[in-house]
Amino acid sequence: MATLRFPSSFVIGSATASYQIEGGVHEGGRGPSIWDTFSHTPGRVENGDTGDVADDHYHRWQDDLDLMSELGLQAYRFSIAWPRIQPTGAGAPNQAGLDFYRGLVDGLLARGIAPVATLYHWDLPQALEDAGGWPERDTALRFAEYAGHMVEALGDRVHTWTTFNEPWCAAFLGYGNGMHAPGRTDGAAALAAAHHMNLAHGLAVPEIRRIADPSAQVSITLNLHPTRELPSVPADESAEARRRASAVGDRIFLSPLLRGHYDADLIDDTAGVTDWSFLHPGDEQLIHQPIDFLGVNYYSTSAVRFDAAVSGPERVGAWPGEPALEFMRLPGPYTDMGWNIDPGALEELLVSLHEQYPEMPLMITENGAAFPDVVERRDGVAHVVDTDRVEYLRAHFAAAHRAIERGVDLRGYLVWSFLDNFEWSFGFSKRFGIVRVDYDSQERIVKDSGRFVQRLIETRTLDVD
Ligand code: FCB
Repeated sequence: MATLRFPSSFVIGSATASYQIEGGVHEGGRGPSIWDTFSHTPGRVENGDTGDVADDHYHRWQDDLDLMSELGLQAYRFSIAWPRIQPTGAGAPNQAGLDFYRGLVDGLLARGIAPVATLYHWDLPQALEDAGGWPERDTALRFAEYAGHMVEALGDRVHTWTTFNEPWCAAFLGYGNGMHAPGRTDGAAALAAAHHMNLAHGLAVPEIRRIADPSAQVSITLNLHPTRELPSVPADESAEARRRASAVGDRIFLSPLLRGHYDADLIDDTAGVTDWSFLHPGDEQLIHQPIDFLGVNYYSTSAVRFDAAVSGPERVGAWPGEPALEFMRLPGPYTDMGWNIDPGALEELLVSLHEQYPEMPLMITENGAAFPDVVERRDGVAHVVDTDRVEYLRAHFAAAHRAIERGVDLRGYLVWSFLDNFEWSFGFSKRFGIVRVDYDSQERIVKDSGRFVQRLIETRTLDVD
């Protein structure tokens, strides 16, 4: 057994997102978002679940902040529901919406917890989708305006601003394979959406810098697609499949954001789907804004190859221009999502990003696991003995520690998620929380994993085998 120690500057906290926890969808003047529409469309979300009530955090946020304080969280990553601020996606900000987030941020500060605010975690105002959504360039301009309103209101007190959470999911699951809101299936629209999210980031960052306190950190969070080799896939095929997956999965964001241009292979690979006429002269320079760190969300890995049986018209999917790309599940163990557990890949991903972008500090803005938890009542006290989640977290914190030892400038680690919540198209069937939520009574129960995180923060140390 060994004991690992985390640097005192390493921030340990937890994360959530507005639509997944807030509820209160008709309160405080909030307008409808694409996730309200999508979740209320039969067949889109498991069990017909919606975020109408979710964790009722809109009403219980003070108690939730007290729980965060009890666990000693150093930072809390939450997202702002755009339709609470601009119910129709444009115009003057809605005071009740601003007040809600001001209360939350002040409550965090009063408890010594650093607020990490994400501006877009997928709940686009429905009115903007009705006007064409992210495939329309105007949505990027609207986003910069919304960002300006938020920074005017909270720029003196939010420690960290994140423009987007996982634009890959928002663009390619939202507009590519239709698994996420708004549920469209159009490869060209998905690529345009990705570009407009990049552009929206590029327009918002200078707004944030102009208005926010100079000490504020500005970032974006990506979900990258780390892949592993499989012995059954020939080396040449594997290399080409991985190159293609990285182009439209990862470099479509990394390259313009961090290098100032789209890669030529991406434009070539997707030429059958779009002519990229949505990319205007000067856009790449606009997107290439200095940021203070890159947020990385990591859960699992996969392998890729080509499916020889696919030819002819593109099948609708999350990988526009890549109809034959096939993602294969790697050997387990698996979480309740069916995702393989591969902590070594987190270390490798962090090291590889550090090698490619040596100047860019990194932060793990999400990592965690869904497991089918069981509540045990002992002497009238409820417990969730989620040893599988504790061990998942231990292994991934250890991987993060190895990355730091290998020279990665890793600033922190935010566990997904603080609360069990609405897991998008899986509804409430998947539990990621370190705090359990009983959706009937809204009772919160700190799981063993919550106590594990609490001890980690208290002691700054982690025991590993
Ligand atoms: C990420 C999302 C987050 C949550 C986790 C499990 O893709 O950013 O909202 O759903 O996955």
